[in-house]
Amino acid sequence: MKIFVTGGAGFIGSNFIHFILREHAEDTVVNFDKLTYAGNLANLKDIESDSRYRFIQGDIADIEVVRKAIPDDCEAIVNFAADTHVDRSILDPEAFLRTDIFGTRVLLEVTREKKIPRYVQISTDEVYGDVEVGQFSKETDCLHPSSPYAASKAAGDLMVMAYVRTYNVPALITRCTNNLGPNQYPEKFIPLAVTNLIEGMPVPVYGDGLQVRDWLHVEDHCRGIDLALRKGRVGEIYNFGANQSPEWPNVKILDAILQQLGKGQDMKTFVKDREGHDRRYAVDTTKSTTELGWKPTWSLSEALRQTVQWYVDHPEWWKPLKSGEFLAYYKQQYAHR
Ligand SMILES: NC(=O)c1ccc[n+]([C@@H]2O[C@H](COP(=O)([O-])OP(=O)(O)OC[C@H]3O[C@@H](n4cnc5c(N)ncnc54)[C@H](O)[C@@H]3O)[C@@H](O)[C@H]2O)c1
Repeated sequence: MKIFVTGGAGFIGSNFIHFILREHAEDTVVNFDKLTYAGNLANLKDIESDSRYRFIQGDIADIEVVRKAIPDDCEAIVNFAADTHVDRSILDPEAFLRTDIFGTRVLLEVTREKKIPRYVQISTDEVYGDVEVGQFSKETDCLHPSSPYAASKAAGDLMVMAYVRTYNVPALITRCTNNLGPNQYPEKFIPLAVTNLIEGMPVPVYGDGLQVRDWLHVEDHCRGIDLALRKGRVGEIYNFGANQSPEWPNVKILDAILQQLGKGQDMKTFVKDREGHDRRYAVDTTKSTTELGWKPTWSLSEALRQTVQWYVDHPEWWKPLKSGEFLAYYKQQYAHR
């Protein structure tokens, strides 16, 4: 399959490109990425000279550039490109609207024009909003996004469904819970905690730290996307999640990281909660399991151990990222809390 991946220099996109080149010897990938602060070509250094892989820098919201970049023989678009950090969307929503909504619409429009046979939109469980303990969001549930990030992703999803219905664009959507694994930008909870602790800095914890996320190893997510790409039905939505039982609130994740790094409880700093912070996400994965034959393979404790160790082993990857732009953001985000 000839795949056009957008946002492939980020966390999940770069893991997905590695997954495809490893699992499908015949496939080729064009990676189209704007290289925002979250895009990092170091994530793809090892495949730079693979003849099946090509990188193009560009913005998904620029239709002329997208038209030129997508090869005529492209067989599928997988859209990872997004502004993704909830806290930044609260500070300034504008970029989120441009990329996550308008950019999605541009990709759908070019899929339509070029009659590309497949389009997969990578979405998130955050579009459902938070759910009560014991409840699991189904693909058919109403959307209740809480943050500007989640609202922009939800709008992107609605645009996908509108293009399927109105123009018969052969698109489908995947919605996954929080991912963990290598190559995640250090503003996100787990890499922020690990890298702060390695640097001897405390870890900010929002509110009481009892928010629940259903963490999934990025490799399991990539396998799910690959199955949806090849076997998913047009116009359908597929949830992916780990269904941890018992569930792990954020403080339990942090305790496991503290223990692995041999650090004490004094490194936890409780700060004022995030505005509009959802308490719990959990998704029903019956559909992806029965229709796609997908199930997670990593336990959370193994996934967390491997992830923490990866950041310990790769300071050359994250140290350059925790400077300049990152520090300005970090100060703005946490100074007043
Ligand atoms: N990280 C998670 O836990 C998670 C969970 C579920 C769904 N998702 C979704 O998966 C996708 C990827 O998430 P991630 O965590 O890898 O994000 P990320 O922030 O690590 O990477 C995003 C990538 O998109 C690129 N990008 C941003 N704006 C662009 C634009 N206008 N044009 C082209 N490229 C642009 C960035 O340069 C970066 O490489 C997103 O759509 C996100 O909503 C993420």
